[in-house]
Amino acid sequence: MNTYPVRPALESESTQIKGLINLVGINPTGLDWKRFIVVVNEKGQVIACGQIKPHGEDIRELASIAVNPEYRGQGLARVVIEMLLHENPRPLYLMCVSHNGPMYEKFGFQVIADKAMPRYFARIKKLFKLSDVFRRSGQELLVMKLE
Ligand SMILES: CC(C)(COP(=O)(O)OP(=O)(O)OC[C@H]1O[C@@H](n2cnc3c(N)ncnc32)[C@H](O)[C@@H]1OP(=O)(O)O)[C@@H](O)C(=O)NCCC(=O)NCCS
Repeated sequence: MNTYPVRPALESESTQIKGLINLVGINPTGLDWKRFIVVVNEKGQVIACGQIKPHGEDIRELASIAVNPEYRGQGLARVVIEMLLHENPRPLYLMCVSHNGPMYEKFGFQVIADKAMPRYFARIKKLFKLSDVFRRSGQELLVMKLE
């Protein structure tokens, strides 16, 4: 369905990537452009992105999956995720709020229990549980794994 180019990001797109992440309101830390895959429109604007973030040697996180609201529902997240999955070894982890869990299940990710989480994710989950904002949102933070 997608007809826009999907490719590794350029250094010149670093600011646009940060802008898109801020626009969609997800984790604004660890946004090194070198790790990103982007989709660009005919004007060269970054309309979708995603990355694999390393946390130590064997822990890799599918992260920063974002699509500009004007371009959603056209398979752009799918092409970004598929390219990242194609280019990276397993296992892969991710964190998401519960309403996005079903999307990642489509790619084979499964929710993992606290006991099975690498320490990095367990720590974030604990902080998330303590946060008032999220408690009020009614959403749970899921940690998912693709074997
Ligand atoms: C979540 C988001 C990335 C989806 O982008 P999108 O381009 O609309 O997604 P796609 O059109 O590529 O959808 C891919 C597949 O997931 C499904 N999907 C998308 N969002 C979904 C959701 N919330 N729940 C269940 N399935 C979902 C689609 O139906 C599609 O399925 P199909 O390919 O089998 O038909 C986008 O809404 C977004 O940027 N949200 C804000 C940022 C965010 O929450 N990012 C995720 C951080 S964990």
